[in-house]
Amino acid sequence: MPEPASFDPVAVLAERFRAAIARAFPEAADADPMITASRQANLGDFQSNAAMPLAKRLGKKPREIAEAIVRNADLGDVAEPLTKDSIAGPGFINLRLRADTLGALLSRLDSPDLGLPPVEHPQTVVVDLMGVNLAKQMHVGHLRSPIIGDALARTLERLGHRVIRQNHVGDWGLPIAMVTARLRRLAAAGTIDLSRITLDDLDRAYAAAQAECKRDLEGLAAARRFGQGPKALAELEEQVMGAEAAFAEARQTLVKLQAHDPETFAVWQRIADVTMQVCLATCERLHVNVTAEHSAGESSYAAELAPMVADLVSRGIAEESEGALVVRLEDPAYGGIKEPCIVRKTDGGFLYATTDVAAIRRRVQKLGADRLIYVIDARQNLHLRQVYGASLRAGYAINPRSGKPAEFQHAAFGMILGDDGRPFKTRTGDNVKLADLLEETVERAERAVAQRAGEREIPASERRAIAEAVGIAAIKHADLCNDRIKDYVFSFDRMLAFEGNTGPYLLYALVRIRSIFRNADAASQAAAPAATLALREAGEKSLGLALLRYPAVVRSVGESLEPHRLVQYLFDLASAFSAFYDACPVLKAETEALRQSRLRLCHLTARVLADGLGILGIPTLERM
Ligand code: ARG
Repeated sequence: MPEPASFDPVAVLAERFRAAIARAFPEAADADPMITASRQANLGDFQSNAAMPLAKRLGKKPREIAEAIVRNADLGDVAEPLTKDSIAGPGFINLRLRADTLGALLSRLDSPDLGLPPVEHPQTVVVDLMGVNLAKQMHVGHLRSPIIGDALARTLERLGHRVIRQNHVGDWGLPIAMVTARLRRLAAAGTIDLSRITLDDLDRAYAAAQAECKRDLEGLAAARRFGQGPKALAELEEQVMGAEAAFAEARQTLVKLQAHDPETFAVWQRIADVTMQVCLATCERLHVNVTAEHSAGESSYAAELAPMVADLVSRGIAEESEGALVVRLEDPAYGGIKEPCIVRKTDGGFLYATTDVAAIRRRVQKLGADRLIYVIDARQNLHLRQVYGASLRAGYAINPRSGKPAEFQHAAFGMILGDDGRPFKTRTGDNVKLADLLEETVERAERAVAQRAGEREIPASERRAIAEAVGIAAIKHADLCNDRIKDYVFSFDRMLAFEGNTGPYLLYALVRIRSIFRNADAASQAAAPAATLALREAGEKSLGLALLRYPAVVRSVGESLEPHRLVQYLFDLASAFSAFYDACPVLKAETEALRQSRLRLCHLTARVLADGLGILGIPTLERM
């Protein structure tokens, strides 16, 4: 198997330049050769910017440095020989790959793994990529986490790591007990039929349970203070007493749930089933690989919390503070965070954070995580740093196999906004139901596809399948194409456009390339994958250079956890293909050899596009 670096001209050239710098300036042998793709194709394919920082470091003129590097560079078989004319401006060195080198690198890339053999030292990576809450309808706020998280999980899998997805379902605690208590009461009274309940019903029951447990103590005190009439006072007292009763019932329900009381538990289970059915169906429609086996809800940690907190106390890691138990994190080794991590409240109850510490313990100690990735919105950053800091301090985050702390990364993301620049809501100010949003996207995609097809009739069933793929591609691409930390404005029109950097454009580009290949005769098709690559025209060369960037781009997504780099790359690749195809006839090329070389470029481009879209979790099509 060739060295992964050998596919990548940047790596090959960097190697040669490193040697040249070491020969010219032994005292600065560690200097970065700074090879980048050239911004001006007429000057070269790549450039080295090493001379400028080296000049500063060595107190010499950049031009002199560049000349010394050029004199010492041995580019032999890789690039055209360097001359004084290769140096531009203050000391940029321009490079041009040899045509046969480009062909050779490309045929090496054109292997089954497309330049991405499994990493030598695979890591176990746990990706926290979804956290729906029971009895709550999924809305647009639940879109980003699974889309980005699944793309990252697929990237790491593609690189050869062992990935464990975790759906940290919010399925425990007093609010869940409140709705469980209410439903149990209503079911016992015959008011509702639990076997036919929907998530919308649950959503309403959740809000009603919250309201009925709301004790308006302040209202009552104010009414007393301002000497409200006896009627108003009596009303308020009654409301508070009702709420007290509902609240007490919820507390008892939580205790019963902890003890797995069969009747109470059955109601809870029903709530969980109805919620998860919608959640998993949404994931399936989104082509997000999250299934029942990835569920690890808060309830699954419930029994571990008390012993864990006892462990923290006995080892002096958690301490008392105003009646609560906290883990202090001011030490830079634990994050240098002012606010301590609270693991038990004054009333003895555990918190969201306690569960997340238990989750880190399980993920590292039991699942063997070397790396913990949280794909959660940016507002939870402090919370996550706190629970990771506390877990480090407790030793829970130390991987037992390597003896090293599991790496922690928060792949934070911004919000989805409406046209008005405010969080995306319906016109009446409600949350947009995710299922409705997906349905509307696909319906609009169907209209766009029909319009595009014009006179050409597409059978209805095929049109529906195309619309489904186009709609889902549009929505996922729109979410992945921006820097994830930024907010973005949701726009059906923009995401469903067939021009520009959009999902539909990329799908269409792939389908078009596949159809060019399909239109070749059988003999050429068979010969193309092994054809000798001859890249002479500018269009061929830029396409070849773009293809060679693929492995490095995927690896950079694995490190930075920024899928938009891959999205942008695929758009650049599709654009390079378009320019190539406009300038270089493929099926009508002058010679059979050239025809096969170009067909091979088509074939390879299609493979890279399909592989890249697969990594992003974007469904593709054979025809559209
Ligand atoms: N249920 C949480 C929420 O709605 C999200 C869970 C994220 N994951 C985690 N390990 N905390 O905010």
